[in-house]
Amino acid sequence: MKKTGFLVVLVCSAILLAGPVWSADYVGSDQCFSCHQEQYNYWQASGHPWKLRKAEKARYSKLPLPPGYSWDDISYVVGGAMKKARFIDQEGFIITSAKDGSEAKTQYNMEDGSWSFYHKGEKKPYNCGPCHMTAYSPDGHQDGRPGMIGNWREDGITCEECHGPGSDHISKPTKVNVIIDDSSEACGKCHQRGGIPSAPPAKGGFIRHHEQINELRVGPHAEMDCLQCHNPHQRAILTKPSCGECHDEVLEKFAKNVHAKAGRGCIDCHMPRVTKSAIKLNSYTGDVRTHIFKINTGPDADMFRVVEEKGKKSTFAKGFVTVDYACLGCHGSRDKAWATQYSKEIHK
Ligand code: HEC
Ligand code: HEC
Ligand code: HEC
Ligand code: HEC
Ligand code: HEC
Ligand code: HEC
Ligand code: HEC
Ligand code: HEC
Repeated sequence: MKKTGFLVVLVCSAILLAGPVWSADYVGSDQCFSCHQEQYNYWQASGHPWKLRKAEKARYSKLPLPPGYSWDDISYVVGGAMKKARFIDQEGFIITSAKDGSEAKTQYNMEDGSWSFYHKGEKKPYNCGPCHMTAYSPDGHQDGRPGMIGNWREDGITCEECHGPGSDHISKPTKVNVIIDDSSEACGKCHQRGGIPSAPPAKGGFIRHHEQINELRVGPHAEMDCLQCHNPHQRAILTKPSCGECHDEVLEKFAKNVHAKAGRGCIDCHMPRVTKSAIKLNSYTGDVRTHIFKINTGPDADMFRVVEEKGKKSTFAKGFVTVDYACLGCHGSRDKAWATQYSKEIHK
């Protein structure tokens, strides 16, 4: 490299290292409450802020602890708002056995109060960034706990994880100095597995969890964005998409269907719980709704495909749900042939 070229590179890197012109700092989500109460209250009730909680806060929830542990042994709780909770010890490692080192189930499942094994007996660092916290950086160890990989500014997915550091905005609240990214990729940064364009990985007869964008992109709504159905601050169960807005023909016919009369809606069949985070309720029902939507009524259709690469088998979901998964979770006494028969032309 010539000397002038080298100089240019040096000057450019100096500018880059100095950071962008906008150099706001993180102030914490409590600072946003006074002016944005609606968003704050919705967000508080959603899973995002609860993703990672210090034991001081989490001990007031009614969560039980793994065998032998007391709250004084716990530094953080992971989750425990929706499906399951895992616990972090004072060294920053995820607990994988009983306090005395003996074998024990250490993941607590909210829905049925059961426990599951989690990386049984392994020394398991908390290396789950950047999906669970705000302004994650892979450097160092949060609070100096050796098991915690990386550091972050606030626990959980808070206002500033999505809207950027807020100090400039709170001192001069205009639209200019706050970030809004309404793309699906902004959500898909965390709601994905194996990268955004990849097919949804599956395991044990279910699609794996936290892959909403992979599911969406492999189904008929691939062109839709998360925010066409979701309010980014609200709990999923408050999501009331008007499927009929775009599928009005089906909506009209569905009104006469036995399911409509029984109070069932579109998502009961088109977004069945074929995805699993913590537990399965039966062979066809996990605990997370899928975003695939399409139902294949073929009697021999298989929801999954197995790929063998370098002697390693991996399973992926295809772009549809089969009728055993769509129907038999509720109609458990029937079989796939029955479901096929009644599924064909169900909206005719
Ligand atoms: C002192 C009051 C105040 C505080 C505190 C405040 N905001 Fe705002 N915020 C506003 C006002 C006023 C607007 C509307 C600006 C406009 O319409 O020009 C706004 C707009 C916004 C918007 C929407 C921008 C857009 O393009 O529509 C976001 C996002 C936002 N604030 C996030 C935050 C976050 C995150 C915090 C906490 C770090 C926060 N605000 C704290 C007053 C505040
Ligand atoms: C998971 C990401 C995420 C989190 C966390 C989040 N927001 Fe937002 N917020 C968004 C997105 C995306 C939009 C744009 C919504 C749209 O375009 O419909 C938005 C919009 C807003 C707006 C504009 C008005 C509105 O409701 O559309 C305000 C104000 C706001 N957010 C404040 C906050 C505050 C305060 C918090 C924390 C209590 C927060 N947000 C947490 C993603 C987030
Ligand atoms: C920084 C990572 C991250 C980003 C970005 C993110 N999420 Fe999440 N989201 C999570 C995690 C982790 C959970 C699980 C929280 C829990 O239950 O403890 C979650 C949970 C949810 C839930 C379920 C809450 C419930 O009621 O069960 C919805 C819906 C959701 N996110 C939608 C969105 C949308 C829409 C966006 C984009 C605007 C988004 N998320 C962006 C990490 C993220
Ligand atoms: C690629 C981002 C990502 C990574 C990495 C990740 N998670 Fe998550 N996790 C999520 C999202 C998104 C959700 C909620 C959506 C879902 O489960 O489908 C979630 C949900 C959870 C829940 C359930 C929360 C609740 O309230 O029910 C727990 C517990 C959890 N994750 C633990 C972990 C642990 C421990 C690690 C690291 C070993 C980890 N996750 C790594 C994105 C991620
Ligand atoms: C066509 C509408 C639609 C689109 C697009 C959509 N969702 Fe959803 N989503 C829903 C509905 C409906 C529910 C279930 C609400 C309920 O349980 O009542 C849901 C549930 C969820 C849940 C909770 C699942 C569970 O059962 O625990 C998460 C997380 C989520 N969506 C994230 C996303 C993300 C991220 C995107 C974009 C990649 C997205 N959604 C796109 C309609 C949609
Ligand atoms: C903004 C418009 C829009 C909304 C809202 C919407 N869809 Fe769709 N949907 C589409 C489009 C466009 C297609 C693709 C049409 C095609 O491939 O023929 C589609 C395809 C589908 C298909 C697959 C059709 C097939 O070929 O088998 C199903 C099933 C479906 N949607 C169900 C739903 C359900 C259930 C909801 C509500 C949770 C919903 N849609 C909300 C626009 C929408
Ligand atoms: C009882 C389960 C069930 C419910 C509830 C249900 N569907 Fe369906 N839907 C199906 C099945 C099964 C198919 C596949 C039919 C076929 O391929 O012949 C289907 C097909 C579709 C299709 C694509 C083919 C077509 O006929 O246009 C759309 C779009 C659709 N449903 C939308 C909806 C909407 C919108 C609602 C709510 C108003 C809804 N469905 C409620 C089971 C259901
Ligand atoms: C969320 C639960 C649920 C799902 C999913 C579901 N059903 Fe149903 N189904 C019901 C209820 C409730 C009734 C009305 C009460 C009854 O007769 O059992 C019903 C009634 C029926 C009936 C008439 C009564 C009978 O047993 O002959 C048929 C046929 C039927 N469903 C077919 C299907 C098919 C096909 C699918 C899948 C595409 C499906 N259902 C998915 C809950 C469900």
